[in-house]
Amino acid sequence: MQRQFAQISDLHLSSLVGVDWRDFLNKRALGYLSWKRKRQFEHQTQVLDALRDDLQERHLDQLLVSGDLTHVGLPHEFEQARQWLERLGNPENIALVPGNHDAYVRSEWQQTFALWQAYMTSDNEKPGAVDFSGFPSVRVRNGIAFIGLSTACPKPPLMATGTVGRAQLAKLPELLARAGRDGLFRVVYLHHSPVVGEEKWRKRLTDAGEVAGIIAHHGAELILHGHGHRALHSQLTTEQGSIPVIAVPSASAMGLGHGDVAAYNCYRVEPSEGEWLLEIETRRFQQDAGRFVASPPQQLAVRRWSS
Ligand SMILES: [Fe+2]
Ligand SMILES: [Fe+2]
Repeated sequence: MQRQFAQISDLHLSSLVGVDWRDFLNKRALGYLSWKRKRQFEHQTQVLDALRDDLQERHLDQLLVSGDLTHVGLPHEFEQARQWLERLGNPENIALVPGNHDAYVRSEWQQTFALWQAYMTSDNEKPGAVDFSGFPSVRVRNGIAFIGLSTACPKPPLMATGTVGRAQLAKLPELLARAGRDGLFRVVYLHHSPVVGEEKWRKRLTDAGEVAGIIAHHGAELILHGHGHRALHSQLTTEQGSIPVIAVPSASAMGLGHGDVAAYNCYRVEPSEGEWLLEIETRRFQQDAGRFVASPPQQLAVRRWSS
């Protein structure tokens, strides 16, 4: 059975050209300046077009999008992101969690996140249902459970932190435990890193300790995040061994600043005796070729969790 999925992150795909200055009379003013000075040059449409072409050639059970599709979370940016996602594929095959840029300031759900609802729903919810039950989201495909946590909530100016919050933390243990009992390969994905101390203080996940503690206790096979715009392989240490924690750079980046050039990861999972075999293929944008090119795949043996 082919078990294949991928993660892209930090698309920052929207444009702020021609936006009404009255939309910037809050924290968004700082976001606009950052876009004007740097981000509009760093995140390029040509990279996003190449990304879409490359993704459409993969045969994925699920594509995970780990947040920051926009710059300052304006309604028209949510609409631009929805249009990009619609051209990419069916919401049943694409699951997203938002990032801090998508919740830059408090905004009307109906004008913003409602536009992405079909991509945020769990398997047991109808796409477009009025009563989105929120995160964690759970989708199961081909023996893999994809558990999405939202870390996106408005924060004060200059802060790029995230918080999972009590409501999601209360639901997470049972979701992990049930998926574990069902023998599924559990992928937890979120925008911010849940590894305490991995990210700068003003960019951290404020309740990383609680999130990491729950995952360490109930188990997961793989944790994926974005936010840092850098490729990063680390791990969460538990009593049963370590869980790989992997971050990808922005999928639209030219690599002009502190972040890496655009890349994303494709994963293949195979069950084996007492463990899972995980193959990781990084596909990176090559400017001269104008397309994404694969690096030699890495193999990882992931221990089966005993509950
Ligand atoms: Fe980002
Ligand atoms: Fe972010």
